[in-house]
Amino acid sequence: MSSRATMERKEATVPVEKDPDILAAAARMSGEDLCSIADLSSAEVRAILKLGHDVKNNPREYRRALDAKQMVLMFEKASLRTRLAFETGINTMGGNAVFVDQTSAPLGERETIADVARNLERWVDVIVLRTYAHDTITEMAVNSRVPVINALSDFEHPCQALADFMTLEEHFGKATGLNFAYVGDGNNVCHSLMLTGAQLGANVTVATPRGYSPDIEIVTKAREIAAVNGCEIRLLQDPQAAVEGADAVYTDVCVSMGMEHESTKRAPIFRPFQVNEALMSKAAARAVFMHCLPARRNEEVTDAVIDSPQSIVFDQAENRLHAQKALLLLLLGGLANVEKFQ
Ligand code: CP
Ligand code: NVA
Repeated sequence: MSSRATMERKEATVPVEKDPDILAAAARMSGEDLCSIADLSSAEVRAILKLGHDVKNNPREYRRALDAKQMVLMFEKASLRTRLAFETGINTMGGNAVFVDQTSAPLGERETIADVARNLERWVDVIVLRTYAHDTITEMAVNSRVPVINALSDFEHPCQALADFMTLEEHFGKATGLNFAYVGDGNNVCHSLMLTGAQLGANVTVATPRGYSPDIEIVTKAREIAAVNGCEIRLLQDPQAAVEGADAVYTDVCVSMGMEHESTKRAPIFRPFQVNEALMSKAAARAVFMHCLPARRNEEVTDAVIDSPQSIVFDQAENRLHAQKALLLLLLGGLANVEKFQ
């Protein structure tokens, strides 16, 4: 057995309560925010996923970890998965969640975001925000003494990408070295996937129509991280070339929340980027299909693909719960209340 294989086997046998990545992440991340995947080191991304797998396998061991902790969720946009995964996640660890619907009154309209932060921190232990402007999240984070979590902004969706790579680890054993193809709009989900893939040593290829490529700041950051982790970030405009031999093919809606006024313009531009059986046939035989959901069936993905045995979209949705529980445990110091970590 090669020394690398030996190392991997030894790593796999370290229990979570002795895992150096998890112990270091618990010490560094307690009290911090998660606005972007770029806030995390590679070791911290690995720690969240390792803890996510353990929380999924042993939920009862964590059932008092966030005893009496209070969460507020303030959402300017609709949500099913993110909201429910946070609410049920904290409830199953002994805490409580309060939801504030901000869909008709955006944050910062009635009073400044800084003043909202200075109120919230007096009552709650964590603030979870879904916003249009990414700056709303960073401004809340700067002004709040309690952790702020990005539950989706126009720029990033970090909680989604953590759950997605946890799902890939579950399916393939590890994310390192996987060939991951994203086809569609270079949007918030695409940004967080690029950064997370780079952190975990996955090769990420993104195919978008011209004019819809991911933000250059994210591309630069992802390429810097990828260079350290021995993987590659490629940007293409040809979906067929992007999925050639890929282990995972991912797409998202071509009209994100807040962009509905562009629906008519975007539909023909994104039609060649639809993930259908013909496109999936170019990927590796073992390839999986992924989508953050909600999907617009028979627009960015056909029923035949999303309902096929290759599709792991509901595993992704399930893992939103476990990955977000792991994130909360690290940001709120919850491991101190878990017996095996004593
Ligand atoms: N994928 C995702 O974030 O779903 P929701 O918009 O339903 O939260
Ligand atoms: N890109 C989509 C993701 C929804 C989970 C949006 O922002 O609407």
